Amino acid sequence: MSNATPFEIFLVAPPGLESLLCAEAREKGFDGAVVTPGGVTFTGGWPEVWRANLTLRGASRVLARIGAIRVMHLAQLDKRARKFPWAEVLRPDVPIRVDVSCKASRIYHAGAATQRIETALKESLGATIAADAPLRLMARIEDDLCTFSLDTSGEPLHRRGHKEAVGKAPIRETLAALFLRQCGYSGSEPVVDPMCGSGTFVIEAAEIARGLYPGRSRTFAFEQFASFDPALWAQMRGAATPRTPDSRYFGSDRDTGAIRMSTANAERAGVQDIASFRHNAVSDLIRPEGRPGLVMVNPPYGTRIGEKKLLFAVYGALGKTLLERFKGWRVGMVTTDLGLAKAAALPFTTPLPPVSHGGLRIQLLQTEPLR
Ligand SMILES: C[S@@+](CC[C@H](N)C(=O)[O-])C[C@H]1O[C@@H](n2cnc3c(N)ncnc32)[C@H](O)[C@@H]1O
Repeated sequence: MSNATPFEIFLVAPPGLESLLCAEAREKGFDGAVVTPGGVTFTGGWPEVWRANLTLRGASRVLARIGAIRVMHLAQLDKRARKFPWAEVLRPDVPIRVDVSCKASRIYHAGAATQRIETALKESLGATIAADAPLRLMARIEDDLCTFSLDTSGEPLHRRGHKEAVGKAPIRETLAALFLRQCGYSGSEPVVDPMCGSGTFVIEAAEIARGLYPGRSRTFAFEQFASFDPALWAQMRGAATPRTPDSRYFGSDRDTGAIRMSTANAERAGVQDIASFRHNAVSDLIRPEGRPGLVMVNPPYGTRIGEKKLLFAVYGALGKTLLERFKGWRVGMVTTDLGLAKAAALPFTTPLPPVSHGGLRIQLLQTEPLR
């Protein structure tokens, strides 16, 4: 594969949200993006890989499928892996680790296959193999075809690089961005989160309104590939055209620590002039002046027995406040517990299927503008 040859690029999606990510990818100019199991696929070259990492808010990571070899037995894997043009993509001075999976193939021993591929990288490229290496090569052997993919992201993409402080149950930025999209948020209306925790929804919404790239402050694994072009990358990162939005973004929480965290996180993200945070319980929530927008909230779930009773009251207070003070606003609520959500007594439309998130099954509930 030469640097000019297009290859398959795979965007890993949060399970269940593949089609939302596909819509984002198409909107951002990744033509031909289609939903495939677990994510979204399209064809492109290295500049598309960099741009996907830099601009997509909903992708968990970006994989580059750099090639495939047919392998009927281990000796063949050994020989063909040594002939693979690793040096076009990888550098001998950057350590790498290898993960292998086998399915419906004559080679069924992932450990033995890993050892063959690691030896090929050591001997034909001169690379060091290390369990804590910054780069990861994935080999999937399926139906006797071994496909090589590189993780081009490194740290998962929900780590935007602005959040040092997190609360007890932060929602991932990738998921927050996709749920905002599902609620029809496109960056041109106010957003309120009355239980903001570390401020994820408010900060994501403000960044979208401002037109900032989600990956602007972090580094990526692809920066250590042989195919990396720092000058072109610098140009791409600098191409954002930040806007001055006319809408504002508000978070509140009854926990003072949460307000401190959110404020610091918004400052690091550079949206402190359009996003503000206040210390108040949901029953004291103030409706922002001006046109209505979206209330996006992720109330506490509570997994311990005894907590549940208190939570019914909290969901009840949230629903009551919104119905009384937020006429014309839409509500998006993320919860693990439809029973609790019911206690809010809000006019939710039919929920979407649940999504797995950190071992929990969470669900987005939505309303039309409240009347
Ligand atoms: C699941 S966390 C929200 C996490 C947030 N989405 C984030 O990404 O960090 C729920 C939040 O609700 C807040 N909370 C609980 N009861 C509240 C109440 N009655 N009024 C306001 N905030 C409340 C908690 O302090 C906590 O920060």
